[in-house]
Amino acid sequence: MRESSSLSPQHGAADRSDTVLSAEHISKSFGGIAALVDVGFELRRGEVHALMGENGAGKSTLMKILSGVYTGYEGTVSVDGHPVNFAGVRDAEDAGIAIIHQELNLVPELSVADNIFLGREKLIAGLIVDRKASSRAAGALLQRLGIELDPQARVGTLRVGEQQLVEIAKALSMSARILIMDEPTSALSPAECQRLFRIIRQLAESGVAIVYISHRIDEVMHLASRVTVFRDGRHVLTEPMARLDEDAIISAMVGRNLLASSQEERHSGGNIVLSVENLSLSKPDAHGWRTVIDGVGFDLAAGEILGIGGLLGSGRTEILEAIFGSSDGRTGGEIQVDGRPVDIRSPRDARRLGIALVTEDRKTQGLHLQASIADNVALPLLGGQRADAEAGQR
Ligand SMILES: Nc1ncnc2c1ncn2[C@@H]1O[C@H](COP(=O)(O)OP(=O)(O)OP(=O)(O)O)[C@@H](O)[C@H]1O
Ligand SMILES: [Mg+2]
Repeated sequence: MRESSSLSPQHGAADRSDTVLSAEHISKSFGGIAALVDVGFELRRGEVHALMGENGAGKSTLMKILSGVYTGYEGTVSVDGHPVNFAGVRDAEDAGIAIIHQELNLVPELSVADNIFLGREKLIAGLIVDRKASSRAAGALLQRLGIELDPQARVGTLRVGEQQLVEIAKALSMSARILIMDEPTSALSPAECQRLFRIIRQLAESGVAIVYISHRIDEVMHLASRVTVFRDGRHVLTEPMARLDEDAIISAMVGRNLLASSQEERHSGGNIVLSVENLSLSKPDAHGWRTVIDGVGFDLAAGEILGIGGLLGSGRTEILEAIFGSSDGRTGGEIQVDGRPVDIRSPRDARRLGIALVTEDRKTQGLHLQASIADNVALPLLGGQRADAEAGQR
């Protein structure tokens, strides 16, 4: 059946004859690791087709195949029903396929305008880059998209969200009829997202076929007319959005019913490993000591996950910091580890007792962003060695 009106992408999904891009029996491996195993995908004119799946499911890999980034793979890609063999991104662009990559692919040293038209520069007499013309064209494009950016600004000076908008403008500048968006909103503000959604809807209404990859399930439910789910490099389902709810999508992504299985797996009743009694914390402020937590107590058993609820500012983080010895205040109460009273005065004490803390703000509290992953992972161990050496000297 065919809908005559395509005012809303929700109802604009057309029938099979409108398939503009398809992938059949696609497999791709990196080294020995299979990223895609015999997957199929089909995209129709005027639809917003969400592609979902957990990290590493193979979403980006398929999109890179469809957009000519990867040329080595098994299976068949067809445009308008005709098999194609893209030799590179340029071939895919010529076939009307544009992609907004998950990772930014801009040249920081170049201007916004130069980035948008990179490789497709406007030329004077076929020789010299016409900077004025490209700046004008970029300006007009950005304005149409409601993006307030100076076409002459160097991309390296923009914040990540703005760079993402430049990526989007670049893809749209190609007037593609097939547009692939791989996590386009990850660094956008809510207002920028709303603007992008409006553009996506307009494009779909005008007949552009859109693949939309996002981890944000609410976005997908609002935008998409169809959903495909991949898991571990395999195709799990393709369904009209109207036939799915959030739970069904999540179950397809993770491969099991989360609620049911987590209830089964919940077990407690091991030995009490951490016991907290009458824990209190006061912090100095302008008016003297302010009580932040008071009279907190709980027992935590081996194998148990203990949830701590409460509103912002109610002291959840402070409870953990007080236990871990990292709070800047006066603590009171009694803590036992494995049934023995302990005195934790610093994170180093806590670490020696086998307690680790994943902080609320990893960037400022948990990680040294300038250091390597190896150094970051090893850091608590190094501290321990020094502490142990110091203890040995005493
Ligand atoms: N260039 C590469 N070299 C080696 N392995 C890769 C490469 N690209 C992807 N992989 C692997 O292929 C698998 C699929 O990755 P892919 O990036 O397609 O997943 P994804 O669904 O896009 O995940 P995410 O949601 O994290 O973006 C993963 O196991 C990944 O580690
Ligand atoms: Mg990806």
